[in-house]
Amino acid sequence: MCSEVTRHKSGSQWRNFYGRFKGKSLSAKQSETLRVEFAKYSIKNISWEENPQRKSLNLTEIFSNKHIWLEIGFGGGEHLMHQAKLNPDVGIIGCEPYINGLAMLLRKLSDHPCNNVRLYDGDARNIFDVLPKSSIEKVFLLYPDPWPKKKHHRRRFVTQEFLRPLHNSMKAGSILRIATDIEDYVRQTLQEAPKAGFRWLAKDASDWRSPWCDWISTRYELKALKEGRVPHYLTFVA
Ligand SMILES: C[S@@+](CC[C@H](N)C(=O)[O-])C[C@H]1O[C@@H](n2cnc3c(N)ncnc32)[C@H](O)[C@@H]1O
Repeated sequence: MCSEVTRHKSGSQWRNFYGRFKGKSLSAKQSETLRVEFAKYSIKNISWEENPQRKSLNLTEIFSNKHIWLEIGFGGGEHLMHQAKLNPDVGIIGCEPYINGLAMLLRKLSDHPCNNVRLYDGDARNIFDVLPKSSIEKVFLLYPDPWPKKKHHRRRFVTQEFLRPLHNSMKAGSILRIATDIEDYVRQTLQEAPKAGFRWLAKDASDWRSPWCDWISTRYELKALKEGRVPHYLTFVA
C-alpha cells in the first residue's frame, strides 16, 4: 500500500497516521463539489485544533434524536449511502481521511441528498475522543487497510488503541460489523476484539461466509472478489 506517516496531535499525545490523505489531484469541478457539499455534511469540533478541550459532541443537536451509526473508512461511500437510504430514521456518521474517497461520496450526495448523513475527513481516533460514551448503535468497519506485513500488524484498526475507545463509544448490546478478505486479519480480529469487550456472534463456523442481509458490496470488496480473495463477514456485539 502506498502511504506515508503523518503525525497529528491529540491533546498531549501524538498519533501516527499511516494511511493516505490524498490520491490523484481532483479536477476543478470535483474540488468545487467537495467544497460546497462538505460544507453541508461536515461535523465540526472533532479535530484537536477545533476542539482542544475535547468536549463531547452534541449528537442530539446534529441528528435531532435519531439512532446513530458510524462507518469507519467508508472509501467511495457506496455502502454508507446505501445504508443511509435504507434507514432514514438513523443518523450515520461517516469517517474517511482520504480526500478522493470523500469527494466520491460527496458527488453521490450532491445527486441524491441525504439529510441523515454527516461526515468527518480525518482519523477515526479523533471521533472516538469526542463521541459521548455509549452513544453509537451500530458500527461498520469494512475492509480496513490490511497491512499484510507482520511488522505492520500493529497499524491495523483491530488493535486496542482503536478498539477500546470504539467500544466505549458504543451502546451495550450494539453491533460491530467487520468485513475483510485477509485471513490473518480475521485471526487478529478474533484475538483482539474480545479483549476490548466485543463478543463474536457466530453460531457456527460457517457464519462468516454469508454477507449481512442488507449488504451491498463495496468497491474494495468487488476488487478483492475479482482477484480471487474470499470475503469474511464478522459480527460482534459490544
Ligand atoms: C481498504 S480501504 C476500504 C474502503 C471501503 N470501506 C471499501 O470497502 O471500499 C480502507 C479505508 O480506510 C481508511 N482509513 C485508514 N485509516 C483510517 C483511520 N485511522 N480512520 C478512518 N479511516 C481510515 C482509508 O483511507 C481507506 O479509505
